[in-house]
Amino acid sequence: MTRTLQIDPSNAERARAWDGEEGEYWAQEADQFDRALRAYRAPFFDAAAIGPTDRILDIGCGTGETTRDAARRADAGRVLGLDLSGPMLDVARRRAAAEQLPNAAFEQADVQVYPFPQGEFDVAVSRTGTMFFGDAPAAFRNIARALRPGGRLVQLVWQPPQYNEWFTVFTTALAAGRSLPTPPPDAPGPFALADPERVSGLLTEAGFHPPHFTALTAPMHFGADPDTAQRFVTGLLGWLLAGLDDAGRTRALADLRASLATHGTAEGVLYPSATWLITTTRA
Ligand SMILES: C[S@@+](CC[C@H](N)C(=O)[O-])C[C@H]1O[C@@H](n2cnc3c(N)ncnc32)[C@H](O)[C@@H]1O
Repeated sequence: MTRTLQIDPSNAERARAWDGEEGEYWAQEADQFDRALRAYRAPFFDAAAIGPTDRILDIGCGTGETTRDAARRADAGRVLGLDLSGPMLDVARRRAAAEQLPNAAFEQADVQVYPFPQGEFDVAVSRTGTMFFGDAPAAFRNIARALRPGGRLVQLVWQPPQYNEWFTVFTTALAAGRSLPTPPPDAPGPFALADPERVSGLLTEAGFHPPHFTALTAPMHFGADPDTAQRFVTGLLGWLLAGLDDAGRTRALADLRASLATHGTAEGVLYPSATWLITTTRA
């Protein structure tokens, strides 16, 4: 059965970006994005504690590395990866087929309003996919509905920008001396779930038990060498250069390059990063 793609108006603008050029970039750079977060893979799946028969939901699965990891662990269960991005899901489907994981399925959908059968899943996981909801209370209520009572929710989200040197250094360099507008801390975006107090309120009001927060830190990998990292980072954040004149652009790219060069190691270009591993169960 094909379902009509139903997107909440609060997510429409971001959905166009994920389903358009931005998602195409993530699809094209899937290996590098996965590599960037590799250090978080083990603690994330330790927390998810997936059993062989579990039914799993992967929220904002993107190109599906976590969906495939979950499918291997639940070899007698099944995993559904939902995402707004057609180009990223194309990669996810191709890779799951190539890795012979018939228990991994994917659907293009807005998790905030997807009509989940009630109690359909034992576990819901998300690696940096739950910070973008236009209406977070509604989205977490819908996720709670999808889980059976006692079902686990495991999310990896960013701690605030000041603990993520990669973000502050890259955005400062690309701003080239301009003061760029800072979105409110709870606005949809990478840092929307950085405040444990806010997240505890959101989750308990949505029907979850009070969550547990584990602070994780790990080096984040941006490329094998500074040239590769420069291409990757400007592909991701190059839109910040808009509005700069030639001199500003040159300065921004030189500052970025200088920082990448000082972070080059034998293992690649690495920056400190900090996340929350948030675990809870459906009440
Ligand atoms: C930062 S990416 C992470 C992708 C993937 N989880 C990973 O770790 O590679 C965030 C993903 O969340 C998806 N996303 C954002 N809002 C969503 C929503 N309302 N419903 C479904 N997917 C959403 C985006 O399309 C994007 O693929």
